Amino acid sequence: MAIRLGDEAPNFTAPTTEGDITFHDWKADSWAVLFSHPKDFTPVCTTELGYTAKLKGEFDKRNVKAIGLSVDSVDDHHAWAGDIEATQGTAVNFPMIGDPDRTVANLYDMIHPNADNTSTVRSVFVIGPDNEVKLTLTYPASTGRNFDEVLRVIDSLQLTAEKQLATPVNWQPGDRVIVSPSVSDDEARERFGDFDAPRPYLRYVDAPTD
Ligand code: BEZ
Repeated sequence: MAIRLGDEAPNFTAPTTEGDITFHDWKADSWAVLFSHPKDFTPVCTTELGYTAKLKGEFDKRNVKAIGLSVDSVDDHHAWAGDIEATQGTAVNFPMIGDPDRTVANLYDMIHPNADNTSTVRSVFVIGPDNEVKLTLTYPASTGRNFDEVLRVIDSLQLTAEKQLATPVNWQPGDRVIVSPSVSDDEARERFGDFDAPRPYLRYVDAPTD
């Protein structure tokens, strides 16, 4: 069954390049980015995994753990990791789930048979500290994802979780943010200071610096 925003991220136990994990225990109270790729030893996937490894410092700053998956074996993942490091300049520094029997792929609806019957599509799940699914993305095999966008969404999700702020179209960190409709004008003033309200429902404040 498809996984929807607000669902609890299904738990599973699976082998990974860093040993067997039980997902909820491994994740604990961090944020997580669980993403699938179609196949090891393929070009687009090689670039995606290398770039995700480069983002480790950014993920760590945000208390985010990344974890990859394909229907290849852990042995294949280990063999491929050398190519990723050699061609992308960064060693893979997050676990990759080996899922040849498709247990996790089926649990997360990562195989879309009308696109490809045998391998996972490019799924992304951002999961909060409460294990709730906060974002889902699905890309086709031929299009590499933008992991900077995944980070940008995590920044927005964390602003919402921590400060009840929302983010406008094309927002980038540092840009003005929007006070959530659930916050009254009085509370908004108390918490964020003066706001700019071109409409009563559209209230901008400067991005918090803390
Ligand atoms: C790739 O990663 O390059 C790829 C994988 C499966 C199908 C097409 C492209």
